[in-house]
Amino acid sequence: MSMTVRRMTRAATAGLVAAAALTAAAHSAEAADTLGSAAAGQGRYFGTAVAANHLGEADYAATLDREFSSVTPENEMKWDATEPSRGTFTFGSADRIVDHAQSQGMDVRGHTLVWHSQLPSWVGSLGASDLRTAMNDHINGLMGHYKGEIHSWDVVNEAFQDGGSGARRSSPFQDKLGNGFIEEAFRTARAADPAAKLCYNDYNTDGVNAKSNAVYDMVEDFKSRGVPIDCVGFQSHFNSNSPVPSDYRQNLQRFADLGVDVQITELDIEGSGSAQAANYTKVVEACLAVSRCTGMTVWGVTDKYSWRSSGTPLLFDGNYDEKPAYDAVLSALGGSGDPGGPGDPGEGTVSCTATYTRTADWNSGYNGQVTITAGGEPISSWTATVTLPAQQSVSSLWNGTPAWSGNVMTVRPSWNGTLAAGASTSFGFTVAKNGSDAAPAVGTCTAS
Ligand code: XIL
Repeated sequence: MSMTVRRMTRAATAGLVAAAALTAAAHSAEAADTLGSAAAGQGRYFGTAVAANHLGEADYAATLDREFSSVTPENEMKWDATEPSRGTFTFGSADRIVDHAQSQGMDVRGHTLVWHSQLPSWVGSLGASDLRTAMNDHINGLMGHYKGEIHSWDVVNEAFQDGGSGARRSSPFQDKLGNGFIEEAFRTARAADPAAKLCYNDYNTDGVNAKSNAVYDMVEDFKSRGVPIDCVGFQSHFNSNSPVPSDYRQNLQRFADLGVDVQITELDIEGSGSAQAANYTKVVEACLAVSRCTGMTVWGVTDKYSWRSSGTPLLFDGNYDEKPAYDAVLSALGGSGDPGGPGDPGEGTVSCTATYTRTADWNSGYNGQVTITAGGEPISSWTATVTLPAQQSVSSLWNGTPAWSGNVMTVRPSWNGTLAAGASTSFGFTVAKNGSDAAPAVGTCTAS
């Protein structure tokens, strides 16, 4: 019943959606470039993951609407959210995101149909024959509901194991249906919405390695046998243990050469300041160098709601201020930043970033250093938080004034609050490990 209502609603509001998109385009022509407008100039989309429960926050919605041309529901289209019990489809939260996106003229990526995670337990308890039916029903249920409204679907997510084996990951689908479940899911998906691009999506496949080789072999096999597949998604969750691979572009290119589009689907890069910015530049440049890299999606609008928030991996800080990574992405996309005219987004907003390094290390302790860098405006003060692992304690701190709440240390300047635009200062501290060698987490820097 709800499916029928939705289709009628879609058709009736199509005219309104087109009008809203035109208004948005007219506005952006007068202002500085945005991520979406700059990417469009390169023939790409620039998207973000969105959570329905934040759409009511004015700054969240304003940043989303201004900057992005595509959205991916972060959790709302997953199996546990959409079919919590067999045959009962719940689309409320996902519909809110799709409606919002359409009112802004944004595209929607569908994420995700068949995945071992965020899978309700009833699916895992089915026998093989029922499971096959349930998988196909789920694909048909989701893709039918949003037919014609999704530019790309992640049909199958994360079906390969990590490590060097290139083997399939154990899941109810793999274990009960065997290797053929992926092919079956793609065939069902093609029939359900022929207009949607059908993607295979995974992580740790961003460079050339055993896992990406296994995905490559599968895509090559699908193309040779006419199994419908249009794109491969590279999640691209990066941090110091999993850095941007040096052969990222080459890897994207070899997939594109198989005759599929490639998309960067869940980009986030932990870090801050110029190092994080440089990594974002590498990713954007790699995509732009591959003509079949059709777009990029970052995995969230603001650091404060990131699934890895302690790693501050996104382009906007917790105050929705543009980070150096934002400027780097905009410039790599060929966009021009804020020209400084009155009324432009970002004008007059002060910001800072905080980057942590361990500068000395011995058996029982270490020295940490946090570098504070002002954003595009001069600042007169800053505040940074450092969360220590539970066992550790700080024995001294210099070039800053600490205040404590449990194991969270909030540091303000001692003499070094005033920074010119782009200038840096740092504070240092000595930590007693007390048996834990883990690194502290540095939170969002706030400037005034
Ligand atoms: C993550 C979401 O960001 C979190 O909110 C949720 O708790 C877990 O899933 N690979 C994927 C995404 O394909 O769906 C995951 O999203 C991140 C890893």
